[in-house]
Amino acid sequence: LQSKHQLQSGHEIPTYMNFNLGRELTCPSSATEKATLEALNVGFRHVDSAIMYRNEKPCGKAILNSNLDRSQIFFTTKIPPGSMGYESTKRAINSSLREAAQEYFDLILIHAPYGGKEARLGSWDALVEAQKAGKVKSIGVSNYGIHHLEELEAYIQGGGGGQIDVGQYELHPWLDHSDIVEWLQKRKIVVEAYSPLAHGSRLTEPVLLSIGKKYGKTPAQVLIRWSLQMGFVPLPKSTTPKRIRENADVFDFELADEDMKLLDTGEYSPTDWDPTVDED
Ligand code: A2P
Repeated sequence: LQSKHQLQSGHEIPTYMNFNLGRELTCPSSATEKATLEALNVGFRHVDSAIMYRNEKPCGKAILNSNLDRSQIFFTTKIPPGSMGYESTKRAINSSLREAAQEYFDLILIHAPYGGKEARLGSWDALVEAQKAGKVKSIGVSNYGIHHLEELEAYIQGGGGGQIDVGQYELHPWLDHSDIVEWLQKRKIVVEAYSPLAHGSRLTEPVLLSIGKKYGKTPAQVLIRWSLQMGFVPLPKSTTPKRIRENADVFDFELADEDMKLLDTGEYSPTDWDPTVDED
């Protein structure tokens, strides 16, 4: 497995040791900062934040307080639905840089395809402009359905500019977005997987326990490994130091094809939040 994927922007993205605190709005800022610092200390190099998670500030602080050179860390944020459209997204990018006390982000994603076509393409223009200004190195989208992706691709090819470097989706064996994944991977767009542990809700599934037993690994480690072997950049979330370390310890085994197949559940269980199907 490669430790990095090449992005079409020319930059690289770490494929593992990624860290995400997700929608932990109840997680106090100091705990977020502590967990991020812990993750950086055990070797994580990719911090996935978002305006919607309200965690840019503590993540930025932990990055500044770590002993690592900024260039060793990959820091992501996301434009929320409330900041769609050119002007709002431009303001959001500038305010995020201030909030996180950063000179640049490695990646900014549009969090979800809301607001209608004009707003989506306006947000894209603001991202392309920020990329040219050096405020962000790579850009992409999250939770876009194929029709949103095709709308954006047509805009880019029609002269809109930029390129989609990353697509981020909820991906695990019980949520099949294989049509979208195929669309992205065909175009060499790197696929990030959020909630690769299925929110922690499936860790006692018999199939995970038996595969875990075979390799002497935990169900969480099996799921992270599945995600890596699917070619994704998994973004497991944990605020528990022991689990953060556990989630990093996935490089001394490889799932055999037969076990990958066992995890091919064929299930599509959309959660109550599935913006990929938004028709607006
Ligand atoms: P916690 O933050 O208390 O460690 P996902 O990344 O799929 O969204 O899953 C996140 C959930 O899984 C969180 O509730 C997290 O809890 C839990 N979790 C993360 N890593 C592990 C692990 N190694 N073992 C068990 N649960 C985990």
